[in-house]
Amino acid sequence: MLLTAYANLVYAEPNENALGENLYLTIGGYGCAACHGKYANGAGNVGGNIRGASLEQFNHALENEPTMQLLSDVLVPEQRGLIVQYLASLGAMPLVEWSIGEDTDIKAQQLIPKQLSQLVVKNDTLVAIAVDLSPLAINQTLHIEPLDTQAVQFIAPAFSVSLQVNGQALQLLVNE
Ligand code: HEC
Repeated sequence: MLLTAYANLVYAEPNENALGENLYLTIGGYGCAACHGKYANGAGNVGGNIRGASLEQFNHALENEPTMQLLSDVLVPEQRGLIVQYLASLGAMPLVEWSIGEDTDIKAQQLIPKQLSQLVVKNDTLVAIAVDLSPLAINQTLHIEPLDTQAVQFIAPAFSVSLQVNGQALQLLVNE
C-alpha cells in the first residue's frame, strides 16, 4: 500500500508532463514543434521560443495568431493546461543550444552552476553524429541523425567544461 502511494507520488509529475509533451509534438498532426521547435526553443522556426509561456499567452496566441487558429478549435482547456505545464517544465531549465554545422567554430554558452539545465543539439550536417556527454558527468552518448535535434538534461557543473564533435567544440562556461 505504502509503496503504491509512494510510487504514484514519484511518477505523477513526469506522467503529466509526458501527456503535455505528446500533445506538443503531435497536435493537429504536426504539433507545436513544427513552428516552435522540438523543445519549444524556437530553433529558427516562425513561432519562436515559447519555453515557460503562460496559459494567457497561449490562449491569446490561439485566438490571434492566424497560423494557430486551426489548433484553437481542437484544443480543449484540459489539453491547453497540460501543454502549458509541459512548457513550464522546459522554462524552468536554462537552455543551452548547440547547432553543429560544417564550420569549425568554437561556440560558447554560459551555465548557471548546479542548475538542472537542458542541452538541445541540432545536427545541421548530412551525417549522423555522436556527442560524448561524459564532460557533463553523463555516462551516455547522444546520437543525432542528420538534420535532427536531440536534447539531454543535466545538472550544470560548478566549473567550465567543453563538449567536442568532429573537431567542433562547445564551451560551457561558468563564472568562477
Ligand atoms: C503553423 C505554425 C504554428 C503552430 C503549429 C503553432 N504556433 Fe504558436 N505561434 C506561431 C507564430 C507565428 C506565433 C507568433 C510569434 C511572434 O509573434 O513572434 C506564435 C505564438 C505563440 C505564442 C505566443 C508567444 C509570445 O511571445 O507571447 C505561444 C505561447 C504559442 N505560440 C504556443 C503554441 C503552442 C503551445 C502550439 C501548439 C499547440 C503552437 N503555438 C503551435 C506559429 C505557430
